[in-house]
Amino acid sequence: MTPSDLTELESSLLAEIAAADSLEKLEAVRVSVLGRKGKITEQMKGLSSLEPSARKTLGQILNQIKDRLTKAIKTQQISLEATELKNRISGETSDVTLPPRPRKIGHIHPISQVMEECVEIFGEMGFLVAEGPDIEDDFHNFTALNIPPEHPARQMHDTFYLPENDEGSRLVLRTHTSPVQIRTMENNSPPIRIIAPGRTYRSDSDATHTPMFHQVEALVIDETTHMGHLKGCIIDFCRAFFGIPDLPVRFRPSHFPFTEPSMEVDIGCIRADGELKIGNFGEGADNWLEIMGSGMVHPKVLEYGGIDSNKYQGFAFGMGIDRLAMLKYGIPDLRTFFDTDLRWLSHYGFVPLGVPSMIRGL
Ligand code: DAH
Repeated sequence: MTPSDLTELESSLLAEIAAADSLEKLEAVRVSVLGRKGKITEQMKGLSSLEPSARKTLGQILNQIKDRLTKAIKTQQISLEATELKNRISGETSDVTLPPRPRKIGHIHPISQVMEECVEIFGEMGFLVAEGPDIEDDFHNFTALNIPPEHPARQMHDTFYLPENDEGSRLVLRTHTSPVQIRTMENNSPPIRIIAPGRTYRSDSDATHTPMFHQVEALVIDETTHMGHLKGCIIDFCRAFFGIPDLPVRFRPSHFPFTEPSMEVDIGCIRADGELKIGNFGEGADNWLEIMGSGMVHPKVLEYGGIDSNKYQGFAFGMGIDRLAMLKYGIPDLRTFFDTDLRWLSHYGFVPLGVPSMIRGL
């Protein structure tokens, strides 16, 4: 090709570029010009068969043409993109009458929910919420609760021990919420009326036990507190918690080192078709489900807490929150509480107060 042939080729290619009225067409032109088998590429390849001097002149011209064509393609591309965007913006409309997308909200875990319910019920009865550490010393978890070293109850607790500290003693993960009783007595003087919800730990893991679980503890101490108060308080709580005004509640003699006398508390239930239902199933019904331990605080425990056992007496009880949640909300498997499965949580969880819900409305 002569230089003038090349000029002619350039003008015809520039015209093709200018005529491309979509990005797809422009791309096709680019390939046909500068692609591996493109017209300009072919010319470049042809240079190698020319004389050195002709190769130099034509090579220069070709390079300049290639630059100009590349620029022209780029310019055309920018203008086509701008036009496409403009067309899209003017073609699209937003429908302001569409309902908003549902807002993703979190759910309250059934254990948190049940803790809240306990706080609310006992709060109405005048209880305050007390707290204690998850990592306890031996004194608060055992000794002060009248469980001396070598006491068999220590073995029953499947305790998690921390490594020995400098004094040669070992801290524990609290095996129950009862140590909060001692801490409350140490820091307050009667009258005392507290509940202590929280995490507890035992080295136990099967279908009905997890190494970490939850309890709520209660402690009432005053000069004239007696077993009638204990019974009334527990019966009222059980009925309020399950929302069953005539729920049968039974007190059965038992033993705990920290109370004397001690009682386990059972509530009425029925087992039918493999299902457990809580409630009053009439005179003849004799199905009971144990839900907590209770008793009159042992005088030794009062003394360990720094309270004069000749002047004061009180009652205490403790129960497992996880099991209460399973019973009340029909959750069949304890272990699912701790699976951190969001699908499970949106099924069994609770919509937080203040968030509009389909069921509760605004
Ligand atoms: N701490 C006991 C446990 O974990 C439960 C308990 C029983 C707590 C009797 C009490 C009580 O306060 O009086 O099994």
